[in-house]
Amino acid sequence: MCGIFGYVGKGQKDVESTIIVGLERLEYRGYDSAGIAIIDDNGNFIIVKRKGRISDLKKALENYNIPPSKIGIGHTRWATHGKVSDENAHPHLDSNNKIAVVHNGIIENYLELKQELIDKGHVFTSETDTEVIAHMIEEYQKYENDYIKSVLYTVKRLKGTFALAILNREYPDMLIGVRKDSPLIIGIGNGEMFLASDIPAILPHTKRIIILDNEEIAILKSDKYQIMDFDGNLKNKQIKEIEWDAQMAEKGPYPHFMLKEIYEQPEVIERNIDKYIRDGEFLLLKDHNLRKLLLNKNRIVIQAAGTSLHAGIVGRYLIEHFAKIPVDTDYSSEFSHRIVDDKTLVMAISQSGETMDTLEGLRLAKKLGLEVLSIVNVVDSSIARESDYVIYINAGPEIGVASTKAYTAQITILLFLALELGYLKGFVDKKTIDYYISEIRKLPYVISSVLYKDTQIQYIAQKFHKHNHFMFLGRGINYPTALEGALKLKEISYIHATGYAAGEMKHGPLALIDENWPVVVINPKTSVYEKTFSNAHEVYTRGGKIISVVSERDEKMKEISQEIIEIPEVDEFLTPIVSIIPLQLLAYHIANLRGCDVDKPRNIAKVITVP
Ligand code: F6R
Repeated sequence: MCGIFGYVGKGQKDVESTIIVGLERLEYRGYDSAGIAIIDDNGNFIIVKRKGRISDLKKALENYNIPPSKIGIGHTRWATHGKVSDENAHPHLDSNNKIAVVHNGIIENYLELKQELIDKGHVFTSETDTEVIAHMIEEYQKYENDYIKSVLYTVKRLKGTFALAILNREYPDMLIGVRKDSPLIIGIGNGEMFLASDIPAILPHTKRIIILDNEEIAILKSDKYQIMDFDGNLKNKQIKEIEWDAQMAEKGPYPHFMLKEIYEQPEVIERNIDKYIRDGEFLLLKDHNLRKLLLNKNRIVIQAAGTSLHAGIVGRYLIEHFAKIPVDTDYSSEFSHRIVDDKTLVMAISQSGETMDTLEGLRLAKKLGLEVLSIVNVVDSSIARESDYVIYINAGPEIGVASTKAYTAQITILLFLALELGYLKGFVDKKTIDYYISEIRKLPYVISSVLYKDTQIQYIAQKFHKHNHFMFLGRGINYPTALEGALKLKEISYIHATGYAAGEMKHGPLALIDENWPVVVINPKTSVYEKTFSNAHEVYTRGGKIISVVSERDEKMKEISQEIIEIPEVDEFLTPIVSIIPLQLLAYHIANLRGCDVDKPRNIAKVITVP
């Protein structure tokens, strides 16, 4: 949803390359166009912006000889208002080319503000909502002659969501950052300051950060900063040390972040075992208030989007089975239509912690007086901060647009939560807890053994990558695995893929099946094995080409499958964590073979900060 980056120093760093590297680390947020604005040491702007990827911007920059400079801003865009073009690329300027603005978010009242400014003689050069911001600051500065006040007046008139980085040629040592609903982080370096939409962009430079809260403005100079609210009142903010290290946000030897993140899954699960299991006990509900809250609720509604919702659906099976609490799951964007009462616990699940739909669901629940428990990856993200209780999934930075390691980490946490809650409620005994802890401890090895099948999966991808339709079928706790397998494939390979509850096929979709349809059947040994086998057989009889994910030594499924991917036999309630691994790899290899940009699929972005 657009990434913004800003830098101000004393000449110790090359501004152009610092911004470009920062943008590259934010490119997952949008890649329709990119641009930079630098003020050189003579007070002139160098503005370069291009439709396309950051690589296109870099190519364009080869024709520029950027003079010595100490300050600049950059942007990578996921288009919302205005088509993808050079003109609509950020930064955007005022009429006198004095103020440059980059923006992440949406200005809802921009048309009305634009008209007001046009009436005052401003000439616009783009179709974006962002451009009004530069013109409005310019307009206020005419009367106020106080730059900071002009920024404050402007941001108070904007409706919508925005994170901004602003430069003004008249103040060549000052970088301004503004936050309302879209994330913005300040990095505090040694004689230099950074602004970025996300932590990985700042990681190579400093681990000391300040997270701006809503309706805050940061005024940054190379060795000092001031934070104020939209009324200009100064605020005292705490500096935090980031735990992530710079390497975690590097691709390392992997060709793509997605592949690296798929391979990180054993390590992430190990990390969560270390953190949340000790002396034969789960530790998620140690907080007395959280425990009391959960024990007092008779219903849970999980609201999330995309992959996080699929993890939530697995969570529904787990919580209902172990803790016997009815659970509903909903797209965050549909959550506002549900009924929730004070006996309902609202749970939000989000990797980024910034998904606007999920944040809005959370805010709605809070408005209704309900407490919210969130399961989040990015520490101190908006969802984490606005929730009453947070459980972190400790997956480390996830940069590939297709979520992989966050998914298995979310399910792992939901499994821990379901077991702990079940134990506290008296539905699960100590022996069962001991059994599951010992099975969970095997998971990192089990996943590593599935990753070992990468070459076989690559071969299957080779065989099927030219098909334009896929169906994914699963039942029970692996129904969400089918949804997630289909989502992975469609989002990175642009193949039409549908995930279905296997038992639903006969109620309509079976009509689609002929010898041109690859059907991925997820059927490890579980209580619904036989039923899923029958559903798979119905597909086989109609000529569908079955690729099955099954437990080792399954001769029955082998007979009806063209390809078979074996996973080690694990307890039914652990199967979703294992059975998704081959599907992530299958999607990855198919997308690669089709020449798709795996880490940056078209039209989408990693963090969706618009409703
Ligand atoms: C798919 C994917 C998306 C996200 C969704 C929610 O691979 O990544 O479907 O899962 O946009 O994002 P978070 O979890 O950050 O709230």
